[in-house]
Amino acid sequence: ESEGEKTRRAPVVSVMGHVDHGKTSLLDYIRRTKVASGESGGITQHIGAYHVETDHGMVSFLDTPGHAAFTAMRARGAQCTDIVILVVAADDGVMPQTKEAVDHARSAGVPLVIAINKMDKEGADPDRVKSELAGMDVVPEDWGGDVQFVPVSAHTGDGIENLLEAVLLQAEILELEAVEEAPAKGVVVESSLERGRGSVATVLVQNGTLRQGEMVVAGAWYGKVRAMTDEAGKQVKEAGPSIPVEILGLNGTPDAGDEFFAVADERKAKELAEFRQSR
Ligand code: GTP
Ligand code: NA
Ligand code: MG
Repeated sequence: ESEGEKTRRAPVVSVMGHVDHGKTSLLDYIRRTKVASGESGGITQHIGAYHVETDHGMVSFLDTPGHAAFTAMRARGAQCTDIVILVVAADDGVMPQTKEAVDHARSAGVPLVIAINKMDKEGADPDRVKSELAGMDVVPEDWGGDVQFVPVSAHTGDGIENLLEAVLLQAEILELEAVEEAPAKGVVVESSLERGRGSVATVLVQNGTLRQGEMVVAGAWYGKVRAMTDEAGKQVKEAGPSIPVEILGLNGTPDAGDEFFAVADERKAKELAEFRQSR
């Protein structure tokens, strides 16, 4: 197949950090919606994927759970990411899952931007956060290191513009590219069976363009993309590089982190999926 030219693509940014340090709240502020308050117990139990047009350019965000139980999910999140925003609550400091997130980002070779959150709170101590992270070799720029630390409040919105600027600056340095005119490929962010909808998979397109009606293989499963929706539940006909979409039509639920790709016809899709099932 003929493939187009490489062009710039939006960064894929995972938001990581200890439980309740404010990852979802930060994204809520950015998206100006209210996801955190609608979660069961206020705890994120899956990876949410959103793409946002900011004043500084397009960014795709993956929200990840901070709860200790979700280590594997965080590791997979780090792997399909260009940049990690590590959220550390200024009144709580570095905690076990903060350290874990640093390790995931390091082993995936992904640069960190630190959001020192909850700056509005009494007892906020950004210098403590800086020295605790510096002790793990995550050294702030103003201390002679190469990591940007940005004080923010997800409640007041203070500093969030600076955070987005820091992320987009980091993205510039990475010179992220993809080919838009090519068969789609990417990774599965999460999937589940939903009553009345069947298999629902959130996928992140990394290269090419995914179109409704195309045949795809995702992990050990396949199917024709019957419908696609964006993170707001709006129907879309296509999704290009760095865009997360929910797809309906797979004959099973692939695992988070599985690769997916569009194929020319059903026979080929079935063959590839069955080969993967047999392994
Ligand atoms: P998990 O997904 O469960 O790991 O949590 P999270 O990191 O997404 O944290 P979440 O956004 O659910 O916020 C946890 C609590 O902290 C909520 O009660 C928020 O309202 C509160 N919170 C988040 N950001 C701020 C902030 O900037 N200031 C203050 N005062 N509270 C905040
Ligand atoms: Na929470
Ligand atoms: Mg959350």
